[in-house]
Amino acid sequence: MQASPSSPAHSGRIFSITLVATLGGLLFGYDTAVISGAIGNLKIFFGLSDAQQGWAASSALVGCILGALMASEASRRLGRRSSMQVAAWLFLISALGTALPWDFTSFIFFRIVGGVGVGMASMVSPMYIAEMAPAERRGQLVSYNQFAIVVGILLVYFVNYFIARQGDATWNMHTGWRWMFGSEALPAILFAVLLWRVPRSPRWLMLRGQEAEARQVLARLYPATEIERLVAEIRASLHTHQPSWRDLGEKGIPRLLWIGILLSVFQQVTGINVFMYYAPEIFKGFGSGTDTALLQTVLVGSVNMLFTILAIYTVDKWGRKPLQIVGAVGMAVCMGAIGTAAYYQAIGGWLLVFVLGYIASFALSWGPVVWVLLAEIFPNRVRSLAMSLAVAAQWIANFVVSQTFPMLNGNAYLQKNFHGAFPFWLYGSMAGLALIFVWRYVPETKGQSLEELEKKLGATA
Ligand code: BGC
Repeated sequence: MQASPSSPAHSGRIFSITLVATLGGLLFGYDTAVISGAIGNLKIFFGLSDAQQGWAASSALVGCILGALMASEASRRLGRRSSMQVAAWLFLISALGTALPWDFTSFIFFRIVGGVGVGMASMVSPMYIAEMAPAERRGQLVSYNQFAIVVGILLVYFVNYFIARQGDATWNMHTGWRWMFGSEALPAILFAVLLWRVPRSPRWLMLRGQEAEARQVLARLYPATEIERLVAEIRASLHTHQPSWRDLGEKGIPRLLWIGILLSVFQQVTGINVFMYYAPEIFKGFGSGTDTALLQTVLVGSVNMLFTILAIYTVDKWGRKPLQIVGAVGMAVCMGAIGTAAYYQAIGGWLLVFVLGYIASFALSWGPVVWVLLAEIFPNRVRSLAMSLAVAAQWIANFVVSQTFPMLNGNAYLQKNFHGAFPFWLYGSMAGLALIFVWRYVPETKGQSLEELEKKLGATA
């Protein structure tokens, strides 16, 4: 939306609505990272094989793929706010179920339920925020969601650490991990309760033909003089018929869909979650002891958070593309350096500099900016469908990368020929390709209303 909220009251309302929606991001981070502290004890408690242990860690990602796909129908039929409420309930059920499973299968079932919640929230929270936000602050407000993801990850590292200190090894094996999963119930309840207080998206209301309600919401967020123009702009961007999958084939949209899918895939294949999920193991591989490795992991989380803040303050000023280009260069250089050090077996604690350099580059760019772009490049009438496909592609890519990293790392042929460099060089090359892709194909979206973007990107109804 082009209009800027005129009064501090308007800005304040948009800010608090955004904060509530970002709890979806916080739960996304919390739920995907909680497993890192519990996996060791789960293995002993359930007597898991290596394959089962991998499944315990990755089953939630399968739920995320399903959730992202379901989010389209849910956010279209039930609305953006109700879909976030469904996600909040799924988080709560999953927290309780994974804390008190009756066997390994029921544990997996409840991890998948939580994953569905993550997949839904990962798509609906940024979409909802973008639909409420004024154009010139949209990048910043959607980036708060990425900030919340990162805070969720860091928070659960500390919660896990705190819980693990409450008892001895036997207590941790029987009970500690239950508290780790159960602790997610608190943010889930907070999310469910606070969502009652936020309005429905005016763009969804207009899509459903509920213009009077849409006007009421807009009146709470924008100056009275802007309402007519905003309503006319949104109305012009909608189809008269109910949107369907067929609309994705319309003029200009397949191209945008490909851009969205590739943004998602590149965000993952440049290797971020190799560090998010395996950091302590990687640091041990660099020669660190267990305690140092955990400390270094906290450092990774902190750098991730700090540079996300930098992104929040620059994304609307500098634009999306410059950040992504700088970030891709940083990621390629750092991954290249880590790979080269591994190749020459010159590994040591100093490699932490490059790991942190990589994390900083990601957090400044591809972390937040991909979510911003996904929430803004698609036209109003197909946003939920298109975004859910692009987000599902992201979860699939995430699954593939996090499943294959240990395999690439442990492969005898690759070890013999590359001495551990292969996966890092691979992710570094992907960052190089990502750079070319952004440079050539990704449009700049800063400062324009969602409806102006539809016209600019050649996807008007
Ligand atoms: C990505 C996640 C990743 C997180 C790390 C997000 O933008 O989608 O896969 O774990 O950033 O900060």
